Amino acid sequence: VYVANKEKACNNVGIINNTVRLPDYIPEHDLLRVIDFYNNDKTVDGILVQLPLPKHINSDKILKAISPEKDVDCFHPSNVANLWLGKEGIKPCTPQGIIDLLDYGNIDLRGKHVVIIGRSNIVGKPLAQMMLKENATVTICHSKTKNLQEITKLADVIVVAVGKRNVLNGDMVKDGAVVVDVGINRNDEGKLCGDCDYDSLVDKCSLITPVPGGVGLLTRVTLLDNVLLAHSLNNMCQ
Ligand code: GUN
Repeated sequence: VYVANKEKACNNVGIINNTVRLPDYIPEHDLLRVIDFYNNDKTVDGILVQLPLPKHINSDKILKAISPEKDVDCFHPSNVANLWLGKEGIKPCTPQGIIDLLDYGNIDLRGKHVVIIGRSNIVGKPLAQMMLKENATVTICHSKTKNLQEITKLADVIVVAVGKRNVLNGDMVKDGAVVVDVGINRNDEGKLCGDCDYDSLVDKCSLITPVPGGVGLLTRVTLLDNVLLAHSLNNMCQ
């Protein structure tokens, strides 16, 4: 789902994309060679390695091998460091998509209590930093958090990025809360659904994002933005 949507997004705006499908038994050193090839290809502006990788491959090593100027996911340690230092540059796609979505919805984050459920490197952790930059007060919850409901009930904005169904329901939020659902799961009928129990939340929230049709689109817009930025970074480097 992710890869097909990214390909479509690139095609829609005229960004030439090439999905390299590799066997899941590929040795780590061969994958590193593929990355090195595209790092040195001056016609390529951005590289994205779709996660998760097979267990025998060290993801950290692979993400570190991508040239930071071509790292359109913002997963390279030096891009992550820049993010935490509040510097300009490539932004993590889903967190930036969430910031943009709330901005389009005229949600002013200044002084608001934002509760993030999930502490992944892809969403929870970078989003916390970006919310702090927006002057929000941020709480990160995770699988070991005690009394989750007591915390979520205090939140003005709740972002759920766990990858599990029904993590948040209507009893867990205050009236008028804003809920952003980042999850993509399949329900018992095989249909796409998020991490939230949408039906119990929709009448209680002032804004809630659906799945599908919610955060995903803005995630891909950030990815396209990052490709444009990478294009200028790579041209400056040449
Ligand atoms: N797998 C799930 N989400 C993502 C993402 O944003 N980027 C990559 N590369 N892999 C993912």
